[in-house]
Amino acid sequence: MVKQVNEQGRQDQANDSQGDSKAIVTNQDGTHENLVSVVEKHLKHSFDKPYQAHTLAVFEALDAKVKAWQGAVILDACCGVGQSTRLLAKNNPNALVIGVDKSANRITRNVEEHFPVDLAGVSNYEIVRANLNDFYRLVEQANWPVSKHYILYPNPWPKSKHLQRRWHGAAVFPSIIKIGKTITLRSNWRLYLEEFQLAAEIAGRKGTISDVALSENQVPFTPFEAKFINSGQACWQLEIDG
Ligand SMILES: C[S@@+](CC[C@H](N)C(=O)[O-])C[C@H]1O[C@@H](n2cnc3c(N)ncnc32)[C@H](O)[C@@H]1O
Repeated sequence: MVKQVNEQGRQDQANDSQGDSKAIVTNQDGTHENLVSVVEKHLKHSFDKPYQAHTLAVFEALDAKVKAWQGAVILDACCGVGQSTRLLAKNNPNALVIGVDKSANRITRNVEEHFPVDLAGVSNYEIVRANLNDFYRLVEQANWPVSKHYILYPNPWPKSKHLQRRWHGAAVFPSIIKIGKTITLRSNWRLYLEEFQLAAEIAGRKGTISDVALSENQVPFTPFEAKFINSGQACWQLEIDG
């Protein structure tokens, strides 16, 4: 299969779970020198870019469902093919789990063959196509009661010049960091999590980083996690609960 390494620092392939992923290559030797000033700038200024119509329409339909929901809400941002969304729904039967990804191709892909999950009786989830740069702001403004907020294997954008494409360097970060009693990020690039941890601290929240160690009978949370583990790479988790 032809592989392409793109600027996001990942390989685009037909099957996200294959075990031939290359380790991240970056020209940074530590947290980005402009991280603090970029985060402080975003925390001081509101992000007023107009919402895209399709994301607004998706949000409004979900908002009605969230308002009518009696239990907790779990947000699975950058859900890709939605594997983690389905697992979270199965494991949290009283929660409404919402998976969001901008890629129509990913959210509609059938991954049943590679990642079978018995979903009998599981209907407490939605997987939608939306741009999180808008969706996050809408969730924050609507004050959704998000108990757990997941960002699993976000695109790393490892080149130094792309700091502002990472979620902690983005203008929408002030909304991201307010969503969820807990925020869980996973990445195969520890520095991404260290930067997010520092950005969270500037915004007043504390988190800890640990390694993702799967026991023998545990399945990977997502296809990207499977791909990194199958390639012999370490995966890391940042858990923000304060
Ligand atoms: C590396 S993939 C990880 C997917 C999945 N979490 C997994 O681990 O298998 C990153 C995902 O983030 C999504 N994404 C990136 N920027 C986004 C944005 N602004 N809004 C919504 N989704 C976005 C991409 O479409 C992609 O599916």
